[in-house]
Amino acid sequence: MRTLIKGGTIATASDLFRADLLIEGEKVAAIGSDLSKLGPFDRTVDAANKYVIPGGIDPHTHLDMPFGGSQSADDFETGTRAAAFGGTTCVVDFAIQPPKGALRQGLDDWHKKAQGKACTDYAFHMIVRDVNKDSLAEMDTLVKSEGVSSFKLFTAYPGVFMVDDAAIFRAMQRTGENGGLICMHAENGPVIDVLIEQALAQGHTAPKYHALTRPPRLEAEASNRVIAFAEVAKVPVYIVHLSAQEALAEVREARDRGVHAYAETCSQYLFLSYDNYEEPGFDGAKYVMSPPLRAKGNEEALWRGLKQDDLALVSTDHCPFCMKEQKEIGKNDFSKIPNGAPGIEQRMGLLWDGGVRPKRIDINRYVQITSTAAAKIFGLYPRKGTLAPGSDADVVVFEPDKEVRWSAKTHHMRVDYNPYEGRVTRGAPSLVFSRGELIVENDTWKGKAGAGKFIKRGAITR
Ligand code: URP
Ligand code: ZN
Ligand code: ZN
Repeated sequence: MRTLIKGGTIATASDLFRADLLIEGEKVAAIGSDLSKLGPFDRTVDAANKYVIPGGIDPHTHLDMPFGGSQSADDFETGTRAAAFGGTTCVVDFAIQPPKGALRQGLDDWHKKAQGKACTDYAFHMIVRDVNKDSLAEMDTLVKSEGVSSFKLFTAYPGVFMVDDAAIFRAMQRTGENGGLICMHAENGPVIDVLIEQALAQGHTAPKYHALTRPPRLEAEASNRVIAFAEVAKVPVYIVHLSAQEALAEVREARDRGVHAYAETCSQYLFLSYDNYEEPGFDGAKYVMSPPLRAKGNEEALWRGLKQDDLALVSTDHCPFCMKEQKEIGKNDFSKIPNGAPGIEQRMGLLWDGGVRPKRIDINRYVQITSTAAAKIFGLYPRKGTLAPGSDADVVVFEPDKEVRWSAKTHHMRVDYNPYEGRVTRGAPSLVFSRGELIVENDTWKGKAGAGKFIKRGAITR
């Protein structure tokens, strides 16, 4: 199959120029002026007045994940299809070590969830909940042979995922030897649990107390702590879902000293705020996620962080739970509301509308924070994350002024609410290609469940 995308503006993390782009089979074959002479083609696309960008990469999703007494509502089929409608063509999802089980078991479980279902390519990180001799040895195997080169550890969720400081430090040292990367959920779980206990004892059961019991200082403290461990272990560390300016200050201070600390933020921390918890009735539960949404003003600090590269990229932490029957579990007790929110479909549109249009970031930075940086940090580059001869033809033809009104009635995620209900964004994909196959044409799904492939990643470049 040969597709010519004609006359668009090619945007990568470094370049912006008008050219044609030729797709042959699964790969980008050529980029240049007037490639029509290389015809015939099976399909020709007129991309005049449109941008041609690398497909988005969302390096933080939780599809089909058991959590908080529930199961995240999107599986690999519905989640990756929704991602594709939004312009994301690769996700890195979190496989989970089962309680007292092996990493191998967790990896096999996640391969089963994804195979035959994923509509776009995907890769895995591994959540390690039990750091011991065996799991440390398994980490080596995952990096070397299984294409899983990043591991998430938690300083939060005691009794579920939290591991102690020594475990974090040992795992970090191991990645110094095996070429992996430790990703940290940084919040002080034990102190948060005391605050939760005290709030409930005072009869504070509403969703907003989820945020009020997880103050930003406790995110900053944990961020500072894990960065210190990484510094002593002489390894890089990647902080996931950074939400608070206090935590960003810790990352910035460390980076200024030359410490190899990366951090991501998520679209919800840029476009929503603590005020959403004050919505009437139980609606605040829609936004119960950890870390929580922060007070207005934080988003400006995060945008600055993105501009200055103290924040490397924007992911979604897509972890949807329906209001009905799922979030409702915590109707009378905020601490029982499953933590997580949807966002996989909106990320690219929100960041264009709120980032590029008001000139907070330029188009190259947009491509970097939605695609290239994730590919580089997580070992997918240059196969993914750019447009160059030989790279996978994960290509988005993007209309800079196309309007989308977000609503649970029309979105493609399998969840019964949309955190951005009623919001209109401008800038959206008109065509999405996954390894050369057209999978989205405006509002029409053209892809196939199961066509997405597992992408093995290599050791992380230091
Ligand atoms: O609330 C969240 N973030 N849910 C997903 C699990 C995690 O900690 O990333
Ligand atoms: Zn987390
Ligand atoms: Zn997460």
